[in-house]
Amino acid sequence: MEFQKRILVTGGAGFIGSHLVRRLVKHYPAYLIVNLDKLTYAGNLENLSDVKEASNYRFEKIDVQSLEGIRNVFQRHAITDVIHLAAESHVDRSIDGPLEFVFTNVVGTVNLLEVARSFWLDSFENRVFHHVSTDEVYGSLGDTGFFTEATPYDPRSPYSASKASSDHFVRAYYHTYGLPVKISNCSNNYGSHHFPEKLIPLMIHNLLNEKPLPVYGNGSNIRDWLWVEDHASAIDVIFHKGKLGESYNVGGLNEWTNLDLVHYLCDLMDRKLGKPEGSSRALIHFVKDRAGHDYRYAIDARKLTEELGWKPSLRFEEGLERTVEWYLRHPEWVEQVTSGAYQAYYQKFYK
Ligand code: NAD
Ligand code: DAU
Repeated sequence: MEFQKRILVTGGAGFIGSHLVRRLVKHYPAYLIVNLDKLTYAGNLENLSDVKEASNYRFEKIDVQSLEGIRNVFQRHAITDVIHLAAESHVDRSIDGPLEFVFTNVVGTVNLLEVARSFWLDSFENRVFHHVSTDEVYGSLGDTGFFTEATPYDPRSPYSASKASSDHFVRAYYHTYGLPVKISNCSNNYGSHHFPEKLIPLMIHNLLNEKPLPVYGNGSNIRDWLWVEDHASAIDVIFHKGKLGESYNVGGLNEWTNLDLVHYLCDLMDRKLGKPEGSSRALIHFVKDRAGHDYRYAIDARKLTEELGWKPSLRFEEGLERTVEWYLRHPEWVEQVTSGAYQAYYQKFYK
């Protein structure tokens, strides 16, 4: 079959990447979707078991740190577009060991840009390199205000510094070589298939196992939460309709303090598990704060909603309920990702 587009999605076996790949494979049968992923601890092909046999889906186990590996994939699949998500994504791990974040997030991104530039050199017409980034590049807000696309970059963790650096390289390739790039900067995602090192799945996992719920500092830090499938729909809209050389903030105006969110999850789990009201809150345990912990993130997504017509589809309370139900229905997924290396990780970070 002659495909209309042959899109390389990197990091497609991870949390957001797998939701995006599923969406693209199902919504666009005329596109070939090539999922390039190294399968680190965060990548899991089980996340895509429902599309793995689709005729417009391919998987390539490749490290973005390998220029040669990326070249081969471009060549074999005649790649026409890139949506780049592969990254080391956890802030706490970046504090523990920043170098892997530089190698994957910075060098890996430049490798992809470089291969795209050389393969598309004849003509950049009808080509898109969409870089998926984070709101953390903007730094930390006080009690008021929002991140807009014009907010100056001020990354404060090794993770956000590596993402900011990759964004700068993407823009540099636009200005210097005219590479047709787009960038999206999204707030905190939640939903199914989320690795239980991040706040929401970690709390759900510990609640199910009646383990302490580690809240950093006093729990007053604020995050702006978006359902992962709404992020995937935003990437779809920006990839197809966004302007070249521009960036778009993605978020759903949904700010919660960590402590309010953990309380909400405790009460939801009490109801789901038929436990006495308020009993799970007793598991909350305040622990040492994250080093350099950003206080507040909040996204102004008006450019995306007003110019491109995107809007989130789900209220947070409903999304959380669906998420918790997914974890209750998929103990085998949780068992698989938390066996082995996860135990050592947990001991190290939450001893
Ligand atoms: P994740 O950690 O769940 O998945 C990352 C994926 O990248 C995994 O499949 C992993 O195997 C793969 N990967 C890691 N290193 C690789 C390498 N060297 N080569 C090839 N593949 C590699 O991450 P996520 O939460 O799904 O985030 C995806 C992207 O979205 C990241 O770029 C992240 O910065 C960005 N983002 C995440 C959020 C969020 O809330 N999770 C919000 C905004 C932006
Ligand atoms: O804002 C987008 C970013 O959101 C993404 O770019 C990152 O990839 C993603 O990991 C996420 O970063 P955060 O650091 O905000 O997410 P995390 O789930 O690690 O933490 C959310 C908040 O909860 C943060 O204030 C720290 C706190 N926390 C986290 C954990 C894991 C706790 O209090 N206890 C915990 O055990």
